[in-house]
Amino acid sequence: MPDNATVLVFAASNSTASINKLLAVHAGNVLKHTLAAPVEIDVLDLNDFEMPIYSPEREKAHGIPQPAQDFFARIGAADGLIISYAEHNGSYTAAYKNIFDWCSRINAKVFQNKPIVALSASPGRRGGATVLKTAVDAAAFFGGEVKGSLSVGLFEQHFDRETDQLSDPELAASLRTVLLALQSALG
Ligand SMILES: Cc1cc2nc3c(=O)[nH]c(=O)nc-3n(C[C@H](O)[C@H](O)[C@H](O)COP(=O)(O)O)c2cc1C
Repeated sequence: MPDNATVLVFAASNSTASINKLLAVHAGNVLKHTLAAPVEIDVLDLNDFEMPIYSPEREKAHGIPQPAQDFFARIGAADGLIISYAEHNGSYTAAYKNIFDWCSRINAKVFQNKPIVALSASPGRRGGATVLKTAVDAAAFFGGEVKGSLSVGLFEQHFDRETDQLSDPELAASLRTVLLALQSALG
């Protein structure tokens, strides 16, 4: 793996109290510190990429907004991605979908052939499994190579906010497994 491999980490949520951000950042820390992968972690926040809702007329009138270009460039600059998907009504959050739709107008291969670990978390039992399946099934079409995925249900029972760690040993082991697959893909 090149010494300077960069892993872009973000939650597909604009909540400032996002549990998916907690999970994604935790995963980045496990990769860098527990698994000792020689990576730089670049944490991105969707709130820094606010834009008008995509419309063909807006695109025609004003082109693609700078935040979408910046988001696409952040993915392009990374060697791998850790994304944790929040589920809203069985699908992506509107905040993520809007950024994704704008980015797809730059290039449909939004993920730019990067290896991805796809996660999801919710307070309920299913752990955002529906949006995670949608994201994993669609990733290849958008130029993403999903190396592993994991959903974390009953988040408050399974994540220790004091230590910022998954407290459930089985989930922690599963997370390490998917991260090892990402680490291998980084070279
Ligand atoms: C509008 C809305 C719709 C939601 N729909 C779902 C859902 O379909 N499935 C689910 O597991 N949780 C659902 N939730 C609960 C979210 O999982 C919960 O808010 C979670 O904290 C979102 O992740 P985040 O904290 O990373 O934003 C919904 C929450 C909101 C506000």
